[in-house]
Amino acid sequence: MSSNLDSFIDNLQEEIFEDAREAFGEKVYQRWRRPLYMQAMDDPDGHANLKGGCGDSIEVFLKFKNHRVAKASFLTDGCGPSVVCGSYAAEMAIGKTPDELLIIDGKLILKELGGLPEENEHCAHLAAESLHAALDDYMRKE
Ligand code: FES
Repeated sequence: MSSNLDSFIDNLQEEIFEDAREAFGEKVYQRWRRPLYMQAMDDPDGHANLKGGCGDSIEVFLKFKNHRVAKASFLTDGCGPSVVCGSYAAEMAIGKTPDELLIIDGKLILKELGGLPEENEHCAHLAAESLHAALDDYMRKE
């Protein structure tokens, strides 16, 4: 009985993964399965937690060294695409100066991850806005 249930759950899980891969593409799917940089950071130099119109939040943490981002991470309570967008925002931030961080907007994140369905594009914009708010926090402390 239990092995039937296990196999039912495994098949269901596989179907969900396949649907996500089909809907969002391989690059987004892989990052969703393995969300790099998704963790809180102790004592960040810049930090922000913004809530989007959809009700989801993306939190960004930045650590600077020699006026460049040495470490970046994020957390989100949102959808799969918000995980992927937060992950790419953190990855793209690493090594950047404050001026270079300002160039990272939602469009650039969408380009980097290969695009999202239109109804999920706001997730990338929220990730970029949270990144800029974390930069703003750093600049105010400087
Ligand atoms: Fe709200 Fe993705 S951030 S649906």
